[in-house]
Amino acid sequence: MTPAGDLSREPLTPEALGPFLETAVFGRGLIETHRVIDSTNRRARELAGENAAEGALVLAETQTAGRGRFGRSWHSPPGKNLYFSLILRPALPLEKTPLLTLAAGLGAGEALGRTVGRRPDIKWPNDLLLDGLKIAGLLAESEGREKGAGFVVLGLGLNVNLGADELPVELAGRAGSLLMATGRTWDRAEVLAALLKGLEDEYLALEAGGEADMLARYRKRCLTLGRTVRVAQGREVIEGKALDVDPKGRLVVQIGPGGETTAVSAGEATITGAGY
Ligand code: BTN
Repeated sequence: MTPAGDLSREPLTPEALGPFLETAVFGRGLIETHRVIDSTNRRARELAGENAAEGALVLAETQTAGRGRFGRSWHSPPGKNLYFSLILRPALPLEKTPLLTLAAGLGAGEALGRTVGRRPDIKWPNDLLLDGLKIAGLLAESEGREKGAGFVVLGLGLNVNLGADELPVELAGRAGSLLMATGRTWDRAEVLAALLKGLEDEYLALEAGGEADMLARYRKRCLTLGRTVRVAQGREVIEGKALDVDPKGRLVVQIGPGGETTAVSAGEATITGAGY
């Protein structure tokens, strides 16, 4: 039974979202809700291939095969968290697509700051952390962009009302939630609406040429900069000090004190220390 007035446990529906929605495009057209789905990203890609319009939203209460970066799975227990994917058709040159994922992390983080009063740090490229624990991850998957048109599916998973005692053992001490960071439960519809607004604002600003401003704000929130990192790119592992995020969204790493630098475009950046 849902206790009267406990909105944190209401199922997430378009009707619940509607009153909170402040966007122009994101979540304004098609909204597909699933009680159970394999992956909202998988479904959104399918819809995009069938010409679904920009801003179409796929939402799920639980995912049986939620996808994380690097082929990992995304822990998706029912009813507690947010799992959603948006279809984007960016008016951006192909080489600027990576900036989209940075802008999305920034927009989602700003939205959480405004709504729940705690602004997450960003671990490059777009993990959101509160108190050092990962609360959200973004997975952008694009198709057909090299041919000029194409689409990007932007998937976001956010741990909202998940208690520390509900984390699987392999995530204990690494993953957090809004509940764990703020000590209270949240109405997922309100949080989702805020995220859509934050994502849309950054997306439109980027399309309007605001990349330098976005990057400047991103660098301020990026916890990775100035730290010693180990970046795994396939079999190659780079270790050094993270100096900057360059105009292409790559992490610039100094390999050894005073040594040469290299720019990393993708990969898992584990923070190993405070700096040299
Ligand atoms: C990461 O590894 O940090 C990215 C995680 C992205 C998870 C979200 S949950 C909603 C959407 N659907 C998926 O299958 N993955 C993304």
